[in-house]
Amino acid sequence: MTRRGLPPGPSAPPIVQALRLSRDPLGTLVEARERYGDVFTLRLSRVGTAVVVAAPDALDVLLQGDPQIAHAGAARRRLLPVLPPGSALGADAAAHRAARARLLPVLAQSHLEASSADIADVAREHVARWPLGRPFALLPRVRALALAVFVREVLAVRERHRAAALERVVLRMMWSPLVAPGVWVPDPHGGPIGRLEWSVFRALRRRVDRLLREELQRRRARSAVAGADILATLVDAGGEVGDEVVVDELVGLLIAAVEPIGVGLTWMLERLARHPAVVDRILDERGGEDRMTRAAILETLHTRPAIVDAARELTTSVEVGGHELAPGTSVIVAIPLVHGLLSTPGAQSFRPQRWLTGEAPGRSLPFGGGERACLGAALTIVEARAVVPTVLARVLLAAAGAPERVALRGTALVPHRGGRVVATQRAAP
Ligand code: HEM
Repeated sequence: MTRRGLPPGPSAPPIVQALRLSRDPLGTLVEARERYGDVFTLRLSRVGTAVVVAAPDALDVLLQGDPQIAHAGAARRRLLPVLPPGSALGADAAAHRAARARLLPVLAQSHLEASSADIADVAREHVARWPLGRPFALLPRVRALALAVFVREVLAVRERHRAAALERVVLRMMWSPLVAPGVWVPDPHGGPIGRLEWSVFRALRRRVDRLLREELQRRRARSAVAGADILATLVDAGGEVGDEVVVDELVGLLIAAVEPIGVGLTWMLERLARHPAVVDRILDERGGEDRMTRAAILETLHTRPAIVDAARELTTSVEVGGHELAPGTSVIVAIPLVHGLLSTPGAQSFRPQRWLTGEAPGRSLPFGGGERACLGAALTIVEARAVVPTVLARVLLAAAGAPERVALRGTALVPHRGGRVVATQRAAP
């Protein structure tokens, strides 16, 4: 029997539900699922009411079905109002199809594999600056590394001082005290605090926009070839859509790319710091086929997904897990629930070997799914295959303290203390 209206869910006030989710997202989601079933409603301050879905049949409708009935861009902008509406992450319908078509060729695996050695060089340069012999949090350092890879290898800004300037302003735009994702969320409609944060974000973004515009002009002056890299491709497209749209696209891409991959790489290194036998196997296979490296990457993405959800906003009424949801409903496919984390014993433990022996877990969708699936999946794998062994060959990482709780920051699932480790030098630089 199909029930109309919102499915049941916890009755605590929205601020309490939001705080619980942020402090202990896995526990909160699993508890609600046990109590209310595969489809339930959360009421969260700022985000509003959202229907959380983990029912397997619903995934096919929401993720694999027609993207016109479940808009991803509108849903993501509700969670993150700073997202440019014309970007691949923030757009829907024709604007989304155009943005995605522009980016797909330059983010294809074959295209990116050529950059592996350069990505490893960036990693070496960054690891050389990590502190030795005392505990530190991986996340800020790995985030800076992921941003450097993006600016130098994906945007192909090769001049050192220009790349460093761009990295600096992007870091400030995304992680200044007032706009750190998940801590403060700038929102022009979010009351006085939201508006204040919004104006800070706009001011910080203006600096990023200026540098990106300069890069576009430089690329234009060099008559860059479309398809060679993202900037060159967008310069070409800029003739049709204008620089404003191109800069929006780039800012959307920076937001989509840097935090998820920074968090993903952090978890990979954090997991490996606690599993030295896997590290030995990764180091042994260097220069050969990197089967264990790939297995460790997939295992981390499954057991510690970097992003909590694939969000959609319904444009028409849709039946989801026995509930008929009205148009306009915000729906969240909860990735940790789909991965069965916490609900099955041992589901969170780190067993990369299973990807090599055909025992891989059931459904794994760290990158979401369907026509709105992550555009950076290939880059993430190529980058992780280059960065992880490079870091492990340079430094011996040991976990500092007990395993860290998973916390929610924005839509990222982070180690609550940033993944604390102690590094010691392994090889001379
Ligand atoms: C560990 C790394 C990453 C994870 C876990 C991740 C995860 C995700 C997820 C869950 C989505 C939403 C998918 C959906 O709604 O079905 C997404 C979308 C997206 N991601 Fe990623 N992402 C990662 C890295 C990247 C990188 C490096 C880039 C850029 C090069 C990127 C660009 C995008 C874009 C553009 C979208 C929107 C795609 C669309 O709507 O067509 N991501 N990502």
